[in-house]
This record gives sequence, structure tokens and C-alpha cells, in this order.
Amino acid sequence: MMAVAAAVTLLLFFASCMGASVFCTGAPAAGFEDVPTVPFDEGFTPLFGESNLGLSGDGTVRVTLDRHTGSGFISKHYFHHGLFSADVRLPAGHTAGVVVAFYLSNGDVFDDTHDELDFEFLGNRAGHRWRMQTNVYGNGSTARGREERYLMPFDPSAAKHRFSVLWSSDAVVFFVDGTPVREVQRRAGAGMGGDYPSKPMAVYVTIWDGSTWATENGKYTVDYRHGPFTAEFSGLVLRGCPADATGDIRQLHRATSVHRCAARERELTTAEYAVMTARKRAAMRRWRWKQTLYTVCYDTDRYPEALPECDVNAVERQMFERWGESKVAFRSRQSRVETPLAPPLVSMNMMQAD
Ligand SMILES: *[C@@H]1O[C@H](CO)[C@@H](O)[C@H](O)[C@H]1NC(C)=O
Repeated sequence: MMAVAAAVTLLLFFASCMGASVFCTGAPAAGFEDVPTVPFDEGFTPLFGESNLGLSGDGTVRVTLDRHTGSGFISKHYFHHGLFSADVRLPAGHTAGVVVAFYLSNGDVFDDTHDELDFEFLGNRAGHRWRMQTNVYGNGSTARGREERYLMPFDPSAAKHRFSVLWSSDAVVFFVDGTPVREVQRRAGAGMGGDYPSKPMAVYVTIWDGSTWATENGKYTVDYRHGPFTAEFSGLVLRGCPADATGDIRQLHRATSVHRCAARERELTTAEYAVMTARKRAAMRRWRWKQTLYTVCYDTDRYPEALPECDVNAVERQMFERWGESKVAFRSRQSRVETPLAPPLVSMNMMQAD
């Protein structure tokens, strides 16, 4: 009886947007179309592997991994909150072990108290889909990973797709093609506290060899006979309050910069793309229901007490194993052994940059 009731509730919970409901029609990408992009040379500078960085006439940046080096670029400024976005096309074919990352970090400035927001794309064997991971760190909270992993709902090597992260003083929202896929709310009081990213961060794009962990826990390493591996980035968006280029980043989270950035912050939190409507949350739930492979919020083996930002839902929880992996049957099960959780990117880049 319980099981039947739960199944019905489950259906209602996730099917609430089927049919011709007004909630469900149209793309939830509202507000993203008109966001201004920034040319590479204006907003970014090479980070490493410059010989493997290419800029084409239409403004597309190519980052390549070959047997000699990966490559990457970084924003010229650090930003105090903002909307950061890129249209990304990932390498095709056999990409096991390859990692492409689009992320925000200040790990180069703060050794022990860094903040970080990640999109990490994890390559796979030919015929198997790419996976994506999101993660959040604040004030050096590397001992408390906040990973989520998803199966890509499309072939990200066939065409470009837009990945965006909105970071304000209240919440972090990750978007795929304008659909919110993860919302992490800071929450006052017993919320995330120092674990919420609060200091200015730069925007990074990197491609590197993640052979030791990226695909099925290192079982499939990068096979350079299938390389070189090239990811394309275009439609770059940096909508934040930039830190003074000559100033000390360490000072930026102080009151003066909060004051200086107040207008930008208001613009950011009231923009159409930033307002989380009921319709967007419904779209987010549908996307997550279909694509989530692992969420830290239902990993009770790791966190017996859910992290403060988690919206633990009793119905939804039934779909996850106690180690946080999804039980849903229709999911691709070609690879029973899941990819392990990624270490913070900062250290990985250090290794790669040499
Ligand atoms: C950040 O971490 C440092 C060092 O662990 C600690 O002293 C400080 O109180 C933390 N800040 C916040 C806002 O939690």
C-alpha cells in the first residue's frame, strides 16, 4: 500500500508538467538571448598550453589536449558575483579520460580559503555519453565536496550548447541551454555559512588529462591515438562586477567593494534570467529527474545529515541509493561503475600547468 501510494505521489511529483499545462510550454531560457558577450581578447588571456589555444575569425576559442599538453585560458578580471556563460562544443569520438572544465575559482589567490564553482565535462569511450559534474566550494571547504553528476541529455560534440552559472549573494544557479539544472541557496543562519563562495573569482576554461579518475575511476585512460582532443568555446559572457585590476583581490570582499558593486548586484538579481519562477523550478525538476546520476544531497553514506542547502524531498529520495546514486531504471547502465568524485580543480591545474 505504501509502495503504491509512493509511486502515485512520485508520478504526480514529476509528471506535474505533462500535457498542455502553461507551466510546461516554451523554453525556460527567458532572458538569456540578449545577454552581451565579450570577445576573447577583451575578457580573457591564455593560462597554459598556449600552443594548443586557437582563436578563429568568428571569435570561437579552441582548447586542445594532445600528448604534449592540455591548454586553458582565464578571465583578465576577478568578479564579485555575476552571470558567466559559454557556448561549448566538446570533442567527438573516443574521449575517455579527457576533462573539459568551465569554472570560477580564486585558488590562485587564496591557498587555504579558496572558493570555486565548477562545470566539469567528463569524456567517455566511443559510443558512450559524456557526463557532466557540478560542484561548489567556499572558503576552502574541500573536505566537503558538493558534487552532482548528470548524463548529458544530448550529444555535446555534435553542436554547441550553452552552459551558464549565476552567482549572487543569495544563490548559485547552474543552467544548461537556459534551463536551470541546479540551485544552491546560501540561506542565512543555519545555511551554508562560510561554505558559500563569497570572494571574487576569475573564470577559467581548461582541457586536461584526467586519466587517473575521469572515466570509470581511471579504468579508461586517455588514448592519444584518438587525439588531439579539441573543445570549442564561443558566446562568452562575463556579467559581473570586476575587481579593480590593480587592487588587491584579498581586499575585494570587504565593505567598500560590496558598496561599489551594489548597482551591479541589483542588476544581476533582478535580471529575467536570474529570477527563479515556479515555471523554471518545474523545468529544473524535470531536467534533474531525467539526467541526475548522483547527488550529494541523497548520499547519506557520506553525509548522514544532509548539507544545509539541500532540499531533501522524501518522495525524490526514494529514487536514490543511500550512496547518492540514482536508481532510475531507464538510465544508461553501460557503465555500472560510476565516475568518482572530482578533486578540486585548482590542484589538478597546478599539476597540468607545469
Ligand atoms: C574561512 O576559513 C578560515 C580558515 O579556516 C576561518 O578562520 C574563517 O572564519 C572562515 N570564514 C568564514 C566566513 O567562515
